[in-house]
Amino acid sequence: MNVLSVVGARPQFVKAAAVSQQLQHDHDELLVHTGQHYDPELSEVFFQELALPKPAFHLGVGSGSHAHQTAEMMTELERIVDDESPDAVLVYGDTNSTLAAALVAAKSSAKLAHVEAGLRSYDWSMPEEVNRKLTDHCSDILFAPGQHAKETLAQEGISENVFVPGDVMYDTLVQIRDRLHDTDVSGIERPEEYVLATVHRAKNTDDRDRLASIVDAFSQLHVPVVFPAHPRTVTALQEYGLWDRATEAARVIDPVDYGQFITLVEDAICVATDSGGVQKEAFYLDTPCVTLRETTEWIETVDAGWNTLVGAETSRIVDAVRTAVDPPAKPDLYGNGNAAARIVEQLERSVH
Ligand code: UD1
Ligand code: UDP
Repeated sequence: MNVLSVVGARPQFVKAAAVSQQLQHDHDELLVHTGQHYDPELSEVFFQELALPKPAFHLGVGSGSHAHQTAEMMTELERIVDDESPDAVLVYGDTNSTLAAALVAAKSSAKLAHVEAGLRSYDWSMPEEVNRKLTDHCSDILFAPGQHAKETLAQEGISENVFVPGDVMYDTLVQIRDRLHDTDVSGIERPEEYVLATVHRAKNTDDRDRLASIVDAFSQLHVPVVFPAHPRTVTALQEYGLWDRATEAARVIDPVDYGQFITLVEDAICVATDSGGVQKEAFYLDTPCVTLRETTEWIETVDAGWNTLVGAETSRIVDAVRTAVDPPAKPDLYGNGNAAARIVEQLERSVH
């Protein structure tokens, strides 16, 4: 089987690493890096640390408006798909790189397979919601991380070729966890007790009031906040004149590598985030999560009591972090760490 996998942003490197490792056994994979993320700490570190092949194609698209970025990726991807004629094009998650590859693959002879299908926040103002819904609706093979996502697809009329292998991010996490003793976190200054924070969603970074309100919450917490900041957030804090306020409220550091990040999540008393992936990582690592959004596509973590949706209001964030505790029981929500193997087996059956 010939597979063309398309990645471009940080979460996709974490997800694709699990599947690439499985494809290596018996299949031919060509990895395309769109270049959506290009700073070494958002891209190169993951290739050094995880079992990802060297990209066969690097599109170098970089940052830009949604239309510009997506269109530039599509033009390049169309040429590659035409030249390589893969059996399947594999896409991950909900970024602009996902949608660009999906639209190209849908009009090619390759089968389009979507990993992380069926997730919905029901907030159409999020670019990710547009990306994930459109990708699902033009996919030939859909890999849902859990039953809820499968049911969501059925409600939208998609019930053929939907499979539930589990969450590939859990596969990657299980593997790094076994190697965490090799991870050096000595360079990261952190107290015994801390809250780990990440913020990068457009809704929070493109709105000064929301970002200021989140920063103010960090300054009022009872424990220090360690905050590896996405470059988008650093730019926003500087542009809004909030940088000094943020560095007083939290220990703002550069993004850290994956092993360091997982260690920081595991050791934190609570995570405060607007990330999709980090909500799950907190759940897997038994760290309560406070989500700085009004909605989530990982709703099972909320239902299970491990995740609280608070939006960006200062008092709600402070209250939720103060009262965050480990719930008594933890259900298995997204598989048992062998999602990638199941995806590759099913992909082979589906394309032949
Ligand atoms: C993207 C995804 C988002 C995902 C996130 C993971 C879309 C629409 N958004 O958001 O779903 O959660 O990645 O981190 O696809 N920048 C840099 N260096 C980089 C990359 C970006 O400085 O290497 C800055 C640029 O100023 C850029 C901004 O970040 O304009 C936003 O980058 P972009 O890739 O468009 O979106 P993210 O916010 O990273
Ligand atoms: N991550 C990392 N270092 C950081 C922040 C995040 O290694 O400083 C990892 C983490 O495992 C996370 C993944 O990158 O799940 C994707 O992160 P992000 O929050 O950017 O994307 P999202 O899941 O929101 O799309």
